[in-house]
Amino acid sequence: MRAEDKLVIALPKGRILDEAMPLVNAAGIIPEPAFDDPKSRLLRFGTNHPHIDIIRVRSFDVATFVAFGAAHLGIAGNDVLMEFDYPELYAPLDLGIGKCRLSVAEPESVAADDDPRRWSHIRIATKYPEVTRRHFAARGVQAECVKLNGAMELAPSLGLCTRIVDLVSSGATLLANGLKEVEVIAEVTSRLIVNRAALKTRPDEMTGWIEAFRKACGA
Ligand code: PRP
Repeated sequence: MRAEDKLVIALPKGRILDEAMPLVNAAGIIPEPAFDDPKSRLLRFGTNHPHIDIIRVRSFDVATFVAFGAAHLGIAGNDVLMEFDYPELYAPLDLGIGKCRLSVAEPESVAADDDPRRWSHIRIATKYPEVTRRHFAARGVQAECVKLNGAMELAPSLGLCTRIVDLVSSGATLLANGLKEVEVIAEVTSRLIVNRAALKTRPDEMTGWIEAFRKACGA
C-alpha cells in the first residue's frame, strides 16, 4: 500500500490521550511500541493494521489535520470544534471522555462584588477568542480577547486582564491561582471527528471505524 493511501488517525497529546487510548484499543487499533515510549521522538506511528497510522499532535491541531484531510479521523473536544467551526469536519460520536467545561473566571476578590449581567466591555485572556467573542456578543457584551496558549490563570494576577476563559475540570488550577468560576460557556467532552470528503471517498472503511468506536464507547 502507498503511504498516501493509509488511513491516518489524529490523537491529542496530553491528558485526553490517557482516556482516549482504551477506546482506540477497544476499537481494535493498537499502536506500535514506540507510541508508549516517552523517549521516542516519532510523531507518526504504525499500528497493528498495516494500512492505519496514528499521529499525535496538540488538541487544536487534531481538528486542523482532519479538516484539511491530512488525517481522516481524530479525537477532539467540542471546545476546539466550536473555536474553529470547520465545515469540513463531521463529529458523529460523543465519546464521553475528557469531561470538563469552558468557563469564565476572575479573581475571588473581584467576583465578590461583580455582576456579569452589568458587563458591557471586558478584556479576557483565552485560548478561545472566537468562542469567547461569540458568547459575549450574543448578549451585547464586547469582549476584547488576548490570545494565550496556556497558563491563562496567570494573566489576572499580572495585570494582563481581569478575566479569563479556560477549561475547568476539577477546579484545582483556578483555586490554586485565587480565581473563581463565574459563568459556564459550554460543557465539553471529546468527540470522534471525521473528514467529510474522506467519508465520501472511503465510505465503507470510514463508517466501519465510526461503528467500531461507537461500540468501544458503548454509545
Ligand atoms: C487545562 C486547563 C486548565 C486546567 C484545568 O490545562 O487549561 O489550566 O487544565 O484543570 P483543573 O480544573 O482540573 O485544574 P492542561 O493541564 O490540560 O494543559 P494546557 O494548559 O496545556 O492546556
